[in-house]
Amino acid sequence: MPRVKVIHGPNLNMLGTREPEVYGSKTLTEIDRCIKAEARTLGIEAETFQTNSESAIVDAIQRADYDLLIINPAAYTHTSIAIRDAISAVGKPVIEVHLSNIHKREKFRRHSFIAQVATGQISGFGPEGYLLALRAARGILGGGEKEPCN
Ligand code: DQA
Repeated sequence: MPRVKVIHGPNLNMLGTREPEVYGSKTLTEIDRCIKAEARTLGIEAETFQTNSESAIVDAIQRADYDLLIINPAAYTHTSIAIRDAISAVGKPVIEVHLSNIHKREKFRRHSFIAQVATGQISGFGPEGYLLALRAARGILGGGEKEPCN
């Protein structure tokens, strides 16, 4: 079974109460439950992990104990060359996910250091974005049921 690691970056542990008009009202526990359920349906082994620490994200990426990484680097998206370089060094496929559409928010959110080293980016679909990312992962990693559009 392909292994997908899902990393949630800083402040995403506050989902549910954090700016619900921007990020929705689901908690991270609820989102993780949906991720695990969708992964099971797709025949993917998914591990989820949240941290507020940039170095813990770099360490998790470097461990390379996954076939594909789904990451919402949160605010580090816009600042972290260290996370960008870790992704580049490990060389596994990466899907960048954002709950909000970062391209229609403040100017400082429109630039992602991660986008250049990601396979693709999903932004603006709320928690559904993680499920879309899992479907994309299934396509990238192959081995799922025959997809009608691949
Ligand atoms: C975010 C967007 C970032 O700009 C922000 O710092 C976050 C969450 C999103 O999921 O929409 O914390 O990554």
